[in-house]
Amino acid sequence: MKFTIITLFEEALRPYLNSSMMYKEQDKGLLEVEFVNLREFGLGPHKSVDDTPYGGGDGMLLRCEPVFAAIESVLARDKDAKVILPTPAGELWTQQKARGFAAEDAHYIILCPHYEGYDERILELVDYQISLGPYVLTGGELPALIMVDSIVRLLPGVLGGETSAEIESFSEEGLIEFPQYTKPAEFRGMKVPEVLLSGHHGKINEWRKANSKKAAY
Ligand code: ADE
Repeated sequence: MKFTIITLFEEALRPYLNSSMMYKEQDKGLLEVEFVNLREFGLGPHKSVDDTPYGGGDGMLLRCEPVFAAIESVLARDKDAKVILPTPAGELWTQQKARGFAAEDAHYIILCPHYEGYDERILELVDYQISLGPYVLTGGELPALIMVDSIVRLLPGVLGGETSAEIESFSEEGLIEFPQYTKPAEFRGMKVPEVLLSGHHGKINEWRKANSKKAAY
């Protein structure tokens, strides 16, 4: 699985992608993350990437030329890569969508818009428009991290085998997870449910199914 993230703010993305599970999976070779600096495709001596909207209005929009040049530079190396655009106008990102993306051994290009928006003509190059939710963020960097994170944890071999598969199968039914506990068996008077200490797998599974929490979406 490969992600190419086109951004003006690589420094905001690096710390997360170089930590924990995201780092481990890159180290194992299961995940490749590459950054493309949109600024390098900017226009003129100031490497400008944005301009004011025709028809008036606040703020600046990403221009077509740098965006097309940046995306096309990646497509020139891999014509099959798919372009994802995080936008509040996109389809809602869900666990089901994450599963679909994780099932393809694909190269995804994530274009992170910034400023007030983008010239509508960039949609010509976009395969998927994705919204993280009914709110507006300042740019596509946080959505990019959330999409990468939720896809990567579903890749085969990333999470510990059976347990996560079990949780996933519950989530198929619209249930998300059951309550879990670790040592100590009693903390400040709060006891771990007896059945979980019993070693009886049938009863434990029954208890887990019965106590699975419904997802909020
Ligand atoms: N860019 C700004 N807000 C966003 C959102 N909610 N989802 C995806 N991209 C965005």
